[in-house]
Amino acid sequence: MVWQYSNKTKQLFMDAVQGKAGTHLGEIQNPDGTGEHGSIACGDAMRFSFRVKKHDSDPLQDIITEVKYLTFGCTSAIASSEALCALIEQKQHTPLTALKITNKDIADYLDGLPDQKIHCSVMGAEALEDAVIDWAQKRGVNLKPYGINIHRQNLEEDHGKVICQCFSLTNTYIRKKIIELNLHSITDITNAIKAGGACGSCHHSPGGLQDLLDEIWGRISENSNNNSNSNNNIKNNINNTQAKEKSMSESSIDKNNNSTENTDSDNKTKLSPYQIGKKVEEVVNQKIRPALARDGGDMEVVDIKENIVYCRLMGACRGCMGATMTLKMMVERLLKEEVDENIKVISV
Ligand code: FES
Repeated sequence: MVWQYSNKTKQLFMDAVQGKAGTHLGEIQNPDGTGEHGSIACGDAMRFSFRVKKHDSDPLQDIITEVKYLTFGCTSAIASSEALCALIEQKQHTPLTALKITNKDIADYLDGLPDQKIHCSVMGAEALEDAVIDWAQKRGVNLKPYGINIHRQNLEEDHGKVICQCFSLTNTYIRKKIIELNLHSITDITNAIKAGGACGSCHHSPGGLQDLLDEIWGRISENSNNNSNSNNNIKNNINNTQAKEKSMSESSIDKNNNSTENTDSDNKTKLSPYQIGKKVEEVVNQKIRPALARDGGDMEVVDIKENIVYCRLMGACRGCMGATMTLKMMVERLLKEEVDENIKVISV
């Protein structure tokens, strides 16, 4: 798949990878704020760091003087990271005013992004937020009075159930993003945060993406249409969701128990070369290729000898700077998890 990027996106990407003056690829030593978002296993990850000129008495007046990023991802992920840095440098931003930069500002700076790449701009905004929280913790600034979500703490405390297994995203996080980014369909969710973008099994599962959309937007419209019944509706919706989540949780515990039993017995029965081949094919076709396809990539298994799987990356993944990382951190990790922990992946 060939993405239609704007000239600005292509130019920023080329400038960044060539290390042109004024670009920001890199890492600040001893930064005042550093944040991360995404994961290499999911195909996109960003580490964002900044330095401030510290105000003598009021940390809220610290001014950001330097910004850098390390981004693992496609053209639009790198260009979005550059756009974020450029937007911060356009003004004398404090960490708090920088937080007003949204993923839409990033996409606008790039003269637009393909719908399927909106998640790249969201990643920049999230990494910035995480870095500002880091700065606040170091400088002793309480962000709560400024209405800022304590995202990093939320993640640590986020005991929400993982709804999208392929991208390890919980219902707490997905719910927050549906509201924040005004997402109204599963496609919107996938474009913005990738959830649902691989195997698709979270789309209509109990407590899955469609249920979250129905719960959130159904509840809001019922609230606005019928104030007198709103409390009951909210309670019902929450009860329904809790019931669904409970049953999902119980079934996932059952599943886990079963899978533990299966794993135990699997370990006892070593897979034959034929079975390994079949399982590798299954994981590649059901999980890995759909995930790569979201970034215009693909792969094929060329051969399997004992525990070595010879793979060829194709499409946008072929020749991509992150190809080796993709093979090691995504393909090999998934095959180890799902087929055999001794599997090694070799690129051909
Ligand atoms: S579980 Fe969400 S895409 Fe696979």
